[in-house]
Amino acid sequence: MSFSTRQHDFSDKRAAYGELARELAGILAGEHDLIANAANTAALIFHALPQVNWAGFYFLTGGELVVGPFQGKPACVRIALGRGVCGTAAAERRTLVVPDVHAFPDHIACDEASRSEIVVPLVQGATLLGVLDLDSPVPGRFDAQDAAGLEALAGQFLAQLAAR
Ligand code: SME
Repeated sequence: MSFSTRQHDFSDKRAAYGELARELAGILAGEHDLIANAANTAALIFHALPQVNWAGFYFLTGGELVVGPFQGKPACVRIALGRGVCGTAAAERRTLVVPDVHAFPDHIACDEASRSEIVVPLVQGATLLGVLDLDSPVPGRFDAQDAAGLEALAGQFLAQLAAR
């Protein structure tokens, strides 16, 4: 079995995220393992999206976020709820788009190259499972279309877990 890991043409973001959603559905089909699906979801996103230097998961474990499967440089392992971009998005249970991480007072720098970031909370019913986090070396890399596209992919990931 082989999966596409090509970069997509994101000049039409809506269309590109639609294609990615179809690819993710193929990758997740029939599999419900959390780590396996998180690893493949992170890899798909990292390789498909241009100008991204980190893509992956933090999962809520023992009341804090702990790094999960990702692509990119090694990252800080534990983030308290309410801290950094990840902990803030998790605590507020809403997607955060940060155009300039240097202007985000509590940003936690893992890769010095990161200049902008988007974090999508993973919420299943009333339960916070963790976050999906993407970093870019380009300021202002992520916009509302990225938020919508990544929220849809995160939703697919969660739906596959719920179907266990
Ligand atoms: N920048 C994040 C930390 C995680 S890394 O970007 C992978 C934050 O401020 O929460």
